[in-house]
Amino acid sequence: MDFNPYLVESRTYFVSALQARLKELNAQGKEVISLIMGDPLEPTYPPVREAVQAALADYTVSQYPKTEGSLAYRQAVSDWAKRYYGAELDPETQIISCNGSKEAIFHLPLLFDWTTGKEMWIPSLSYPVYAESAGIQHIPLRLLPLNAENGFLPDLDAITPEDWKRCQVFWINSPHNPTTAIASREYLERLLKLAEQYNFLVCSDECYNELYYGDEPPASCLEIPSQHCLVFRSLSKRSHMTGYRMGALMSFNPEYIRLLSKMRAPLGVGTPDFIQAGGIAALADDEHPREYAERYRVKRDKLVSELEAKGFDVFGAQAGFYLWFSHPSLPTSSDLLEAFIDAGLLITPGTAFGDDGEGYARLCYCVTNEVCEKIILALRRLAV
Ligand SMILES: Cc1ncc(COP(=O)(O)O)c(C=O)c1O
Repeated sequence: MDFNPYLVESRTYFVSALQARLKELNAQGKEVISLIMGDPLEPTYPPVREAVQAALADYTVSQYPKTEGSLAYRQAVSDWAKRYYGAELDPETQIISCNGSKEAIFHLPLLFDWTTGKEMWIPSLSYPVYAESAGIQHIPLRLLPLNAENGFLPDLDAITPEDWKRCQVFWINSPHNPTTAIASREYLERLLKLAEQYNFLVCSDECYNELYYGDEPPASCLEIPSQHCLVFRSLSKRSHMTGYRMGALMSFNPEYIRLLSKMRAPLGVGTPDFIQAGGIAALADDEHPREYAERYRVKRDKLVSELEAKGFDVFGAQAGFYLWFSHPSLPTSSDLLEAFIDAGLLITPGTAFGDDGEGYARLCYCVTNEVCEKIILALRRLAV
């Protein structure tokens, strides 16, 4: 048998590697708080569970869910997009559901012919699923350098017209995991103009968009009615619903949605109808993501001031629930990892997101107040 060489040769997904490290530390009797997963520890928005329970009470006959989601769920997404961004999206032709955005991101490249030499472009520091999906499907991948100088956003001016012609899919993730960088409205408009000029698809992964700390929400591609864009949204972070697996794909261009529905039908990725009932309840309310963001802001403020008191440089932190930082006395990601483990905290070395993450690390603070207080005590113990 010839297994997929990518599976045989590629390095272990960083979460698995760090979890193995955690197990090892626990076996040695060392207590370490894991801050590696963007998986909120605070409760799910309560109406979600109530709606799912009510839907289950009526769920006497089990039927396959529709791949594209129920019309009621897609209508809820459409109503939310209109309220939040003024976007006019037809629930039947411009929106489909997904089982959380991760699977939709992974499957997206199946939409395209990759035998023509065209490439998938991703930031050099990224949520690992973009690169994993390219690797396993043997898709030519280009990494666009991210660094402190370009504000951790791909430099659109550094790309030549000849290069733009090779792009088929351009992943943009704002607010960005792991760095928290936020693309401005002008940046997104420029990118979407380039997509039109060079005929590529912008895939805009916006799962942190509703957890922001400024007065205005970060810009969204839902504000710009481009025919060259697909927006990936998730209820995981805004409503603390990671375990439910609910998200949506939206496009002002119905052709992408039509082809995606066709492509996804045999995958079996329809979300159960009773879970979609929870999604509808979550999308009916815009206030709880504001409340959750406010609670995260309090934690962010405390943690950033502890880190800064120790001489860390913390980047951005205006949205999402990650801290991305470096320290002049701990020059490598591995130095940062080990110093934090010594203090009782497991964080993610920046290199887990790409080689350009060297010298940085990411800490997730989607934790309870009690855990946050423990992190603060651990940070005070941290030797630098
Ligand atoms: C940038 C980014 N995109 C997508 C996801 C996937 O989230 P979900 O599958 O829960 O929607 C995550 C999860 O951490 C993420 O960080």
